[in-house]
Amino acid sequence: MIKMAAIDLSNFVPYELLVDSETSKIVKAGDIEPIFSTRKLLDMKDVIYDQEWLVSLKENIDLYHMYRDLTRVEDKELFQKHNVRFDVTIIPPKFLGKEFVKTAGHFHPDAKEGFSYPEVYEVMHGKGLYLLQKPKKELSRKEKKAKVLNPIEIIVISAKAGDQVMIPPGYGHITINPSEDTTLIMNNLVSSSFNSIYEPIKKQRGAIYLYHTNKTWIRNPSYKDDKILVKEAIPQKIANKPFYEAFLENPEQWKFLNEPWIKEKWI
Ligand SMILES: [Fe+2]
Repeated sequence: MIKMAAIDLSNFVPYELLVDSETSKIVKAGDIEPIFSTRKLLDMKDVIYDQEWLVSLKENIDLYHMYRDLTRVEDKELFQKHNVRFDVTIIPPKFLGKEFVKTAGHFHPDAKEGFSYPEVYEVMHGKGLYLLQKPKKELSRKEKKAKVLNPIEIIVISAKAGDQVMIPPGYGHITINPSEDTTLIMNNLVSSSFNSIYEPIKKQRGAIYLYHTNKTWIRNPSYKDDKILVKEAIPQKIANKPFYEAFLENPEQWKFLNEPWIKEKWI
């Protein structure tokens, strides 16, 4: 029998969770039948920086795998009752030409005017760079006259296994795997009441920055002369235990995922 190299993530969930490090797919999730979808390179053709590399490729490769609702049968009702989903995303290391592999990036719609749905991520294996980007707000005529600054706000959060990352309302977000050799595996808790919005990031050919394979940030040339405001942030303890367990223990604690206006401080 050939022994497969498995990444054991069972510390993060109340079932045995194993990922095959060769295929980057889940091979065991307790009694759950893991159902996934795969983001392929050509799904992301608009947001790839190195277009020369893209056209030189002959095949459409897999980039990352998304497992939705990876919850035990006995927990389904509780998650559904609170309109919360628990997902797992697996991003193996890869260069996309001159940049590190990343997710497509998206925004969430508003839960109520001025409050888009937030999201929380937890890194289970490897490292992730979370790039959060808030579009320029519409300025009133008065504000324009007063020359109020109108930058695009970005936040970059670097997270390792065990770290938790908050995506506050209003921010589009992409995740980068900044490693040459380690798979990034993360989970998230998010409202199950909406579909993500991919169009704005697609239209702008990605986020405002991309992470070059030489480990520097490169400005995306599609954002011509936009001003940028970079905010510093580090991972924060959103829950004092892994998300799944914290949800089972107190689902009310996650009410802000569907009612973001009840939370005052985000980052
Ligand atoms: Fe999201």
